[in-house]
Amino acid sequence: MKEQKSLIMGIESSCDETAVAIVSDNKKILSNIVLTQLEEHKPYGGVVPEIAARSHINHLNRLVRQALEEASVKWSDLSAIAVTSGPGLIGGVMVGLMTAKAIAYARRVPLISVNHLEGHALSIRLTEAVEFPYLLLLVSGGHCQLLIVYGVGNYERLGTTIDDAAGEAFDKVAKTLGLEYPGGPAVEKAALLGDASRFKFPRPLKGRPGSNFSFSGLKTSVLRAKDRLVEAKDGVLSRQDICDLAASFQEALTDAIIDRVANSIDYYIDKTPISEHILVVAGGVAANSCIKEKLAALCIQKGLLLKAPPMNLCTDNGAMIAWAGVEKFKLKEFADLNIGAVARWPLDPDAKPAVGAGIKA
Ligand code: KG4
Ligand code: ZN
Repeated sequence: MKEQKSLIMGIESSCDETAVAIVSDNKKILSNIVLTQLEEHKPYGGVVPEIAARSHINHLNRLVRQALEEASVKWSDLSAIAVTSGPGLIGGVMVGLMTAKAIAYARRVPLISVNHLEGHALSIRLTEAVEFPYLLLLVSGGHCQLLIVYGVGNYERLGTTIDDAAGEAFDKVAKTLGLEYPGGPAVEKAALLGDASRFKFPRPLKGRPGSNFSFSGLKTSVLRAKDRLVEAKDGVLSRQDICDLAASFQEALTDAIIDRVANSIDYYIDKTPISEHILVVAGGVAANSCIKEKLAALCIQKGLLLKAPPMNLCTDNGAMIAWAGVEKFKLKEFADLNIGAVARWPLDPDAKPAVGAGIKA
């Protein structure tokens, strides 16, 4: 007899990607459509919440239909609808959530409410046979956290940022240096031609206990160094100056991240008596080669396996939400149709707030 598969649709709209995917419980991605709003936000050098929400409204219905078509799936084949219901930019989250509720109601399928961060956290299990508990470094434009993932809905947060997320720091520094948005790829490219030892930027929190992050001071140091240089050179920076600033910044940020991850690895190994320790890295900043290489070296030194989902599943996407939906579907964790969208939703509600941390923590 043919085994019955569960098919879950996942909807993501918490930031600047409108995304819909259909994933099966045997780890097949039947469709995975991501519409990025990059060009719409580019003139502003960052995501504008109002523009994001309006754009989600304009495109989501079409993408839902397209996801069904590309997967050759009928409405009646769907087992459940999973949706990001927080944290994120609230207008966008509401668009996705209301759409998912309407589908659940009209098609009589269960609704599964997914924490966007849990989508990132579990995505590695869609592409690889990774068992709990693993250590997760989540580094994106909106988040910078270190967590032990013990299971679905079971997290221990070891660290979070007390100010900017790592991707946010890349984006802001790129703006300072006159590089394009999104800043991460632009800074990385400039850094390739730069001298990372020219500017001695601070490594925030390096050498201190714990696993929290801070990037605001580093960002300000880059701004000051640039301003000093502009003054010294009568307003004209050379391409080499820009590349050296980018390389020195990237090196400092990477050093700071590695120091924080090293502390969390020690804690994780101490806490979890398992034979194979794993560090998973997810989020858009995981694309950065400098960070990836240093993480790989650290994992070799500490005896961990380093894993990362493929890049298209590292950045925001619907497949990770659908997959988190699969994991929750197996546990029968369904949501009421009257749930609300939430801007702040920590994965570890017991974690002490990091000093100075904003709503992203
Ligand atoms: O995960 P993501 O696509 O969206 C969320 O923020 O949720 O991450 C986007 C962030 C941006 O801040 C972008 O500048 C950064 O990831 N990023 C990078 C690189 N590629 C993207 N940061 C550093 N190096 C890169 N190569
Ligand atoms: Zn994300």
